[in-house]
Amino acid sequence: MIQLDLTQARLKKNFSEYQDRITRITDMIAKKSGPGGDFLGWDQWPLNYNKAEFETIIQTAKHIQSNYDVLVVTGIGGSYLGARAVIEALNGFYPQKKKLEILYLGQTFSPTYTQQVLTYLENKSFAINVISKSGTTTETAIAFRLLRQLLEKKIGKEKAKKAIFATTDVEKGALRQMADTEGYQTFSLPDDIGGRYSVLTAVGLLPIACSGIDIRALMEGAAEACKLYSNNLIESNLAIQYAISRHQLYQEKSVEMFVMYEPHFSMISEWLKQLFAESEGKETKGLLPGSVNFSTDLHSVGQFIQEGAPLLFETVLYVNKPALDLVVPSSPEDHDGLNYLAGKPLSFVNEKAYLGTLQAHVEEGHVPVIQIHLDQMNAKNLGHLLYFFMKTCAYSGYLLNINPFNQPGVEIYKRNMFKLLGKKGY
Ligand code: PA5
Repeated sequence: MIQLDLTQARLKKNFSEYQDRITRITDMIAKKSGPGGDFLGWDQWPLNYNKAEFETIIQTAKHIQSNYDVLVVTGIGGSYLGARAVIEALNGFYPQKKKLEILYLGQTFSPTYTQQVLTYLENKSFAINVISKSGTTTETAIAFRLLRQLLEKKIGKEKAKKAIFATTDVEKGALRQMADTEGYQTFSLPDDIGGRYSVLTAVGLLPIACSGIDIRALMEGAAEACKLYSNNLIESNLAIQYAISRHQLYQEKSVEMFVMYEPHFSMISEWLKQLFAESEGKETKGLLPGSVNFSTDLHSVGQFIQEGAPLLFETVLYVNKPALDLVVPSSPEDHDGLNYLAGKPLSFVNEKAYLGTLQAHVEEGHVPVIQIHLDQMNAKNLGHLLYFFMKTCAYSGYLLNINPFNQPGVEIYKRNMFKLLGKKGY
């Protein structure tokens, strides 16, 4: 469960003024009758996902864990960010127990990064989960070609085929065709679910399960959220309340700054930035999503938030009880003057930094702050949270009168790049 605290959001209008629009949008989502309605498959997915494929994902993850040292997740955008966000948020950067190592490739053309990953893999036993709905994404396709060739060189073509797992469209696309021809084990992304809404499908679930996270709990949390937020009741539906708050703040601000207090939640911010930017940033509308990690960025961007141009509001995700905690030790000399904190948990210090910053930004910086609290970051709560944000995004997009499920703007750079690369037909 999550808590949404709007007391510091400086909202001006009463939520009840939105009831008619919210009722219309709720209806449009349920009937899939609004713009992009064909891409609403994610909406009831936590309740009606493919259970047989889900069991295969769990079995396949066990197989990958026991047969390989590393899984290379090969995808970009919605075919990458969700899995990485969940894995890092729940396992941290330095997993406590020895687990299958997860690496990422296919999300960049960087030659240095790509070569470093390939060199690192030379002496490792690795499997590949190539993920692409279209099957034609150039970053992913180049990385997959390089990885495949390395794997074939290391273990031979036949064994390599068994170490490649492809997640793609059910029927169409270059990757589907290739997987069928080569005989890779495949997982599917339903037609009516777009990349940035796909974290709870095989796109996210296979890598997440491989990393040792309990995907049943993740889906349980998402199902709980799906039941709670599939209605038009503004007074109790937190996804709707958050969407209305964002919409109100959009009338005065241009940026929504996502704030985390744990560095391993940074990829949740990246996932959120994609979800909201790609869904809302069209027809010259939308909030620009940004992100900071506090207290780290209180020593950099914090200055701007406090006293710079009044462009933004903050959405803070704060977890009340961290996964791990430790106390500040005492020191007989007390040279650093820290003994006043001796014996206090680091979570206590983090919380006071949060509360002090909140007060500074709201009272003196006049920054509106939306606060989202989780009691704990665990698979169930994170599943709930992911669904909450996707639902909010659909309402937010429809409140802006845009299609939240397409991304026409991303094609323009591709067209220019293909022309410059000399691709046939451009
Ligand atoms: O949300 C989206 O649709 C995009 O971000 C895609 O996920 C991203 O472009 C990758 O596309 P594909 O899965 O077709 O390789």
